[in-house]
Amino acid sequence: MIPFSSPVRLGPLTLPHGRVLAPLAGYTEVGFRAVCRLCGAALTCTEMVSAKGLFYGNRQTAELLAVLPDERPSAVQLFGSEPEILAEICRRPEIRAFDLLDLNMGCPMSKIVKNGEGSALMKDPRRAAALIRACRQNFPGALTVKFRLGWDDAHRNAPDFARMAEAEGADGVTVHGRTAEQLYRGKADLAGIAAVKAAVRIPVFGNGDVTDPASALAMAGTGCDGVMIGRGAVGDPGIFSVLAGRTPPLSRMEAAARHFDILLAFLPERRAVLNFRKHMAAYLKGLPNGRELKLAAHAAATAADMKAVLGA
Ligand SMILES: Cc1cc2nc3c(=O)[nH]c(=O)nc-3n(C[C@H](O)[C@H](O)[C@H](O)COP(=O)(O)O)c2cc1C
Repeated sequence: MIPFSSPVRLGPLTLPHGRVLAPLAGYTEVGFRAVCRLCGAALTCTEMVSAKGLFYGNRQTAELLAVLPDERPSAVQLFGSEPEILAEICRRPEIRAFDLLDLNMGCPMSKIVKNGEGSALMKDPRRAAALIRACRQNFPGALTVKFRLGWDDAHRNAPDFARMAEAEGADGVTVHGRTAEQLYRGKADLAGIAAVKAAVRIPVFGNGDVTDPASALAMAGTGCDGVMIGRGAVGDPGIFSVLAGRTPPLSRMEAAARHFDILLAFLPERRAVLNFRKHMAAYLKGLPNGRELKLAAHAAATAADMKAVLGA
C-alpha cells in the first residue's frame, strides 16, 4: 500500500496526493524545492518568512519569497504576532500570488518565541485565533497552520488548537508530533497526531521523523491525510519517489547537480556556493569517499570548485 495517495483538498486548492515537503529555514530554497518536486513532492513551501520583516521592507526577508515560474502550486510560510501586520501583508500582490499561505505557530527557537511568535502562540490561542482570522479575511488562497503538540507536556493543547484554527477558517493544519519544549529531542508522538486528526474535519498533515516507507506507514496509522517531510528529504529528495513506490528520477548526486545549477542561476555565485555547502554535506552522507568530498565541498569557494566535487 502506498500511504497518502489520495488527493488532499485544502479549500480552493487540491493536491494530487498528500506527500509534501516541510519548510526548513536555510534549506528549502528554490533549488532544493525544485528537486523535491521533480521527485514527486505534491507541495513545497518557502522557509518561514517574517511578516514584520516584509512590513518594514527588509530586502533579505523579501528575497525569501522567490519562486520559480513552474513552482505550482506555490506556498509561503509566514510568522508573526501582530494581526494588523499579517492582514496588511496578506493584501500585498506578492503574497496573494501564492496558492497557499501557511502560518507558523510551531517554531520553538528562543529568538522567535521571545517575540510571542512561532510556538509561543500555542500558549496564547486567542492571539493565534486573531492572526488566523486576519489572514483568512485578507488571503483568498488556501490557508493552513503548522504547530506542535503543545508548549510542553503539561500543556498539550494541539486538538483544541486545531479546532480553533478550523473555526477561524483554516483549510488544513500540520502538526509536528513534539512539544515546543522538546525541540527535536525524543521521537514524534503519533498518538498526539492522531488526536488532532480526530478533533477536526479539515485535512491534517502529520509531521515528524518520517524518513522511509516504514515510518510513512506508521504515520498513516494516525489516520492523517498527508505527511510533511523535512529532514528526511535533505540530501535525499528521492524519498518522495521512494514513498510513492517509484525509483527516483535522479540519483542523489544527479539531484545535487541539478539543485546547484538552479541555485547558480538564481543567486550570485558566491552565495550559491555558500548556501549549497550544507546541502552538499547532506547529499554526500554515507557515500564512499563522503568524508573527503565533504571537506572539499566545505572548502569550495567558486562554482567551478563545487562542480569539481559534484563531478568527482
Ligand atoms: C534546520 C531546520 C529548519 C526548520 N525551519 C522551519 C521553518 O522555517 N518553518 C517551520 O514551520 N518549521 C521548520 N522546521 C521544522 C520542520 O518543518 C519539521 O516540523 C521538523 O523538522 C520535523 O519534521 P522532520 O522530522 O520531517 O524533519 C525546521 C526544522 C529544521 C531541522
